[in-house]
Amino acid sequence: MLKNIIISIDGWSSCGKSTLAKQMARALGYVYIDSGAMYRAITLYFIRHQVNINDLSAVEQALNKVELSFSPNHKSGHSEIYLNGENVEYVIRDLVIAEKVSEVAAIGIVRSFAVAQQQAMGKQKGIVMDGRDIGTVVFPDAELKIFMTADMDIRVQRRYQELYEKNPNITIEEVRKNLAHRDHIDSTREISPLRQAADALVLDNSHLTMQEQLQIALNWVKERCL
Ligand code: CDP
Repeated sequence: MLKNIIISIDGWSSCGKSTLAKQMARALGYVYIDSGAMYRAITLYFIRHQVNINDLSAVEQALNKVELSFSPNHKSGHSEIYLNGENVEYVIRDLVIAEKVSEVAAIGIVRSFAVAQQQAMGKQKGIVMDGRDIGTVVFPDAELKIFMTADMDIRVQRRYQELYEKNPNITIEEVRKNLAHRDHIDSTREISPLRQAADALVLDNSHLTMQEQLQIALNWVKERCL
């Protein structure tokens, strides 16, 4: 019997963190939390309410009106994010949100707002959370930390395909620019920059099938838990 642990998955934009996190959660019967969805939902709120992100008191006031929650979609079995009671799981994937989210996620009070909720969700363990600072800041004591990466061209192609299905007007160049822009901001910001935790295991899935990546990760779980 495996004991309940905390699994963190951090890494670059669009390298398949959420796919692996969902696979692992399903295989282990764990809860999956997409921390990036929280920053995306906050960004959606800020865009809708035209919050000036350079005005910290406006940001603080807006955060007071943001309530985030996750609730399972019984068809897919995965949890989906709600913003003030509205399911925003799909609308937050739009490129309009991706173009602003890294600026929003770099703001200190936005991060403390999200991190406090993420830490509360990990209290019971038995959780897989993906993001940028999960193994370094949110759960520095996570029993298994994975740092994911993949070649830029492969990441661009994967995200392009996802977005193209919803919006055939999207161009591959827009997607490439967005990933590079977010990776730059995420890894160079002052607070909780994206970096590999010293005790993280690296998974480069550029040339792995979904089944292969899951197998590698589950072997790590066994090593950590038995
Ligand atoms: O799915 P993808 O890798 O494109 O990104 P995401 O996980 O949806 O995260 C969107 C953005 O939220 C990232 O580019 C970061 O700016 C921010 N983020 C963060 O700062 N910290 C996290 N723990 C998760 C996401």
